Amino acid sequence: MRLLVTGGAGFIGSNFIHYWLRTHPSDQIVNVDKLTYAGNPQNLEGLPPGHELLCEDICDADLEARMEGVEAVFHFAAESHVDRSIDSAEVFIRTNVLGTQRLLEAARRRRVSRFVLVSTDEVYGALGATGECAEDAALRPNSPYAASKAAADLLARAYFKTHQFPVLVTRCCNNYGPYQHPEKMIPLMTTNALADIPLPVYGKGEQVREWIHAEDHCRALEAVFRRGQPGEVYNIGTASRLSNLELVQTILRLLDKPASLIQFVTDRPGHDFRYALDSSKARRELGWEPRISFEAGLAATLAWYRENRSWVESARNDSYRKYYAERYENRDQHLKNL
Ligand code: DAU
Repeated sequence: MRLLVTGGAGFIGSNFIHYWLRTHPSDQIVNVDKLTYAGNPQNLEGLPPGHELLCEDICDADLEARMEGVEAVFHFAAESHVDRSIDSAEVFIRTNVLGTQRLLEAARRRRVSRFVLVSTDEVYGALGATGECAEDAALRPNSPYAASKAAADLLARAYFKTHQFPVLVTRCCNNYGPYQHPEKMIPLMTTNALADIPLPVYGKGEQVREWIHAEDHCRALEAVFRRGQPGEVYNIGTASRLSNLELVQTILRLLDKPASLIQFVTDRPGHDFRYALDSSKARRELGWEPRISFEAGLAATLAWYRENRSWVESARNDSYRKYYAERYENRDQHLKNL
């Protein structure tokens, strides 16, 4: 089978490609990735044959041509960092909204048989101290990032309703695992702790997030692709919920670092208090459930960041651009089998 993956040099996308080619070695994956600061070709090292990276922007690539012979699209490409969307929202609208619409349109014209859109639990907005969101909860996004993802999510719905195009939408909780950019909570706190520099906790650290290992998310995406109903939305969650302060304290304990490294800093504007997913639909209808406990997954993830310091440095310094330029004369040329 031939798949098109967007954003496959990013965190979840690259985990997905590794997962897919490990479990389906005879399949082929075309990976369209713009290689922004968040995409790193080093994430794709060690892949078996069957992977082709095209360094292109979904907003202006010839997507119909890229979909030649493609049976399914997995759409990960997105600007994903809430703090960046607060500083500057425009690129979020362009990539997440326009990019998704272009991809849906090209896939529809090409009659692609399954389109999996990777949305997020942030589209539901914030919960108070109790409760969970099921798939039919209202969408109340609060950050420009979340609003752009909600727009993409609703475009997917519109393509299903209007064109009967077989879109499946997943709304997943916070991911962690290897290859996550160190701007995000777990890699940021881990790499700061390893370097003995302060861990910046927003506000009082009372906000609650639900955490899933990226590998469990990838398995869920396969279950959605194989057993999901077109037009449906599936929450993907674990019920492993912690306040940010609890999480940071756990990281420090596992790394044997002092709590004095915690530094409370100005809160994120509009900071969502709590996310919590009701993911019983995915369990019931897809037979999926997470396999990696938070304790085991977090320990393995901390070990990965400890052992991959050069990767962390490259992500922090953006030095993969140099890495890339050294290997390929023309950044825009299509790259094969990195
Ligand atoms: O819930 C799914 C979402 O999870 C995805 O849709 C987003 O793309 C992804 O970035 C993530 O969003 P969050 O805003 O929850 O993730 P982030 O890692 O930025 O922050 C997690 C929590 O930690 C959040 O409550 C803010 C807090 N935080 C984050 C950073 C970067 C801090 O306290 N200090 C920090 O320096």
